[in-house]
Amino acid sequence: MSTVKFFSGETVPLEMHKVRMVQKINLHPVEDRLASMQEAGFNTFLLKNRDVFLDMLTDSGVNAMSENQYAAMFQADDSYAGSETYYRLEAVLGDMFGTKHFLPVHQGRAAESIISQTLVKPGNTVLMNYHFTTSKAHITIRGGGIEEIIIDEGLKITSDYPFKGEMDLNKLQEAIARLGAENISFVRLEAGTNLVGGQPISVKNIREVSQICRNAGIITVFDASLLADNLYFIKTREAEFADVDIKAITREMGSLMDITYFSARKLGAARGGGILTSNDALANKMRELIPLFEGFLTYGGMSVREMEAMAVGLRETLDIDVISQTPIFVEALCKELLSKGVPVVTPPGGLGCHVDAGAFCDHIPQPEYPAGALAAALFIASGVRGMERGTLSEQRREDGTEPLAEMELVRLAIPKRVFTLSQIKYTADRLAWLYQNRRLIGGLTFDEEPKVLRFFFGRLKPIGDWPEKLAAQFRKDFGESL
Ligand code: F0G
Repeated sequence: MSTVKFFSGETVPLEMHKVRMVQKINLHPVEDRLASMQEAGFNTFLLKNRDVFLDMLTDSGVNAMSENQYAAMFQADDSYAGSETYYRLEAVLGDMFGTKHFLPVHQGRAAESIISQTLVKPGNTVLMNYHFTTSKAHITIRGGGIEEIIIDEGLKITSDYPFKGEMDLNKLQEAIARLGAENISFVRLEAGTNLVGGQPISVKNIREVSQICRNAGIITVFDASLLADNLYFIKTREAEFADVDIKAITREMGSLMDITYFSARKLGAARGGGILTSNDALANKMRELIPLFEGFLTYGGMSVREMEAMAVGLRETLDIDVISQTPIFVEALCKELLSKGVPVVTPPGGLGCHVDAGAFCDHIPQPEYPAGALAAALFIASGVRGMERGTLSEQRREDGTEPLAEMELVRLAIPKRVFTLSQIKYTADRLAWLYQNRRLIGGLTFDEEPKVLRFFFGRLKPIGDWPEKLAAQFRKDFGESL
């Protein structure tokens, strides 16, 4: 596993890989960073990569691939139908999850679209531990509703509960009794629960949810996009599995859930996605939609090269050295920030470090998007690009009012094997400076607001001239230093 105990007694992350190809990145002066942020409408999604120093927006499609993944790309079998590549990938997935059918799709949200088109009826409800932006959008666009039944601990920013992503079994049973099983499209469990801070679920919880749903005749859907980090936490936090082979764990998951889907931009460190099931009737229904929306059944909108890389990446996910790297770096960043007084979600999860923007910017009212403001301020102070995960990522209601998010977070994603420890330390240092100067950060308001998934391409403007004042303070404190 990728930590080492130093002579001093300290446990330190240790990379179990070496860097053999690099990309030059740029750290521009603070005035240029301010100008880039203005140009991007104070939305980190709209920044140009050439203006970004450390891109911690996401781990999606930006994980470092292994030499074996690149090598596999050269043996891809180009063909519209019946590609050998498809059968190789199908075999890997069947072996990993023990499932019978594999439907290829071009990325995770395409799987969500196919599953929702197949199962969601207007007026029905999908129960889930917690929503992800695209999963919710695909359900609501089909007239379905969602209910989040995560354990209460999951919504506490600070906690020492090891599996904060778990579904609350009492809430599940209560919802089934209240809504009636026939009105529930499916129950969705998300591994490494993204929007509450990359928080894992235990196998015990998956077993219990599966049991309750099978008894009630409700279909279960497993979002395995963030499974790699979750597997690491099962190995290290769930005693029963300390010595259990990782593949035995993934196979048990595959048997407990009726449908498993994933974004291979995360799981498998490639690009693309897939839907897995052993249920013939469900497979047949969903299969019809694949050629219509994705591509023929043996590529599903993916390039065969990416499919080969995915097959190898999925096999590598069964190696604890590979899957431990992100969680250990997330923990290192969280620890460094906590030692400087910066509030973060605890325990550290997978995916990235999640800064508690609600506490960091407690002077900014929620409708002025404190997490969006903090993400913009961090970019100005450091060139680090994070992602708002708060009210801005919600959707305005039809009546024009705004649902306020349960948590205001800024996510600093740690793509697999991309950053070094000194870059992590730099990020923590600039955030600590920002924390000291947090009263300089002000709110944001929309300039142009799209109706759906507004956080992707909406444009905002600052309330007042706080970005200029922040940049001036930075210049004063750091002098010529970038
Ligand atoms: N489910 C989860 C849990 C995700 O984190 C994502 C993507 C998806 C589904 C959709 O997959 O992007 O391949 O269509 N999360 C990315 C992120 C976008 O940055 O967290 P996709």
